[in-house]
Amino acid sequence: MLHEINRDKFVVRQMDGAEGMLLLPDKSIKLIYGSPPYPNAERDYGVWRSSEYIAKMTPFLDAACLKLTDDGFIVINVKANREKATSKVASKRSLVIEKMAIQMEEDWGLYCVDIEIWIKENPAPTGLRVACQDAYEQNLWFSKSPKWTINIDAIRRPYESHSVQTYDTYEYKPRSNGNTYVRKNKRIEPNPLGALPKNIISGGVSARIDDHPATQPLYLPEKYIKATTNEGDLVVDPWLGSGTTGYAALSLNRRFAGFDVVQEYVDSAEKWLSSVAGGKEADEK
Ligand SMILES: C[S@@+](CC[C@H](N)C(=O)[O-])C[C@H]1O[C@@H](n2cnc3c(N)ncnc32)[C@H](O)[C@@H]1O
Repeated sequence: MLHEINRDKFVVRQMDGAEGMLLLPDKSIKLIYGSPPYPNAERDYGVWRSSEYIAKMTPFLDAACLKLTDDGFIVINVKANREKATSKVASKRSLVIEKMAIQMEEDWGLYCVDIEIWIKENPAPTGLRVACQDAYEQNLWFSKSPKWTINIDAIRRPYESHSVQTYDTYEYKPRSNGNTYVRKNKRIEPNPLGALPKNIISGGVSARIDDHPATQPLYLPEKYIKATTNEGDLVVDPWLGSGTTGYAALSLNRRFAGFDVVQEYVDSAEKWLSSVAGGKEADEK
């Protein structure tokens, strides 16, 4: 058991992330946020092929169901890389992420809050000629509870000028399923905390100079940490990498546990996280 998590603000360990989660108390994690190796991505830390992807993810999803609080969430940031082209078939896009999302509901009993899209404003060129430039990733956002609540006010955004104009001109009422708007006789005022958040996130890929090949921008984990956790809650990233999720969690006064199989990533993340957990002014990498 990782007892340190009750004493320290964060714990990081070099080990398999599913096994790491099993060392935490049952029903102790409010949010699991992380980015596993992407299907078919050729990385130093191994290649998880589409054909074996769900089998590789199974121990992580099993551990998640056991260790999430009853009102907890899991968000998996991932991108479906293409299959290798063969002499008979062009490099087709893998559908294993969609398959896994369906299985997360059907086999693991989780509830889909949404599949959000991260639009990468400055994607790395892929040189693709059989499809368009690859410029987005998916955030599979699932709840353990069928009737979840999120801190929507914590992730509101500034109104766009055309929405403010619309509010001034028309009268609307949101429908209960959130699908659309119908006219009603009562004017709604813009919320002083901002507009409702969108299910897309748009921004640049990480500009951090780091030893890790796949660092995320902080704004990705920040959104889900703010939306699903409160101060003091435990956030876990079972694919720690450079420690982005931990940095975001600790900056927002949450507790954090992270696991990675590569010792040098864990060492470097530990240094970065110590700077923020110690309350010192930490430079964002
Ligand atoms: C896409 S990267 C995560 C990057 C991270 N989000 C960041 O911002 O730096 C995936 C990470 O998963 C790690 N990994 C691969 N297999 C693992 C396993 N079985 N358990 C834990 N981590 C693993 C890799 O070493 C790699 O650092």
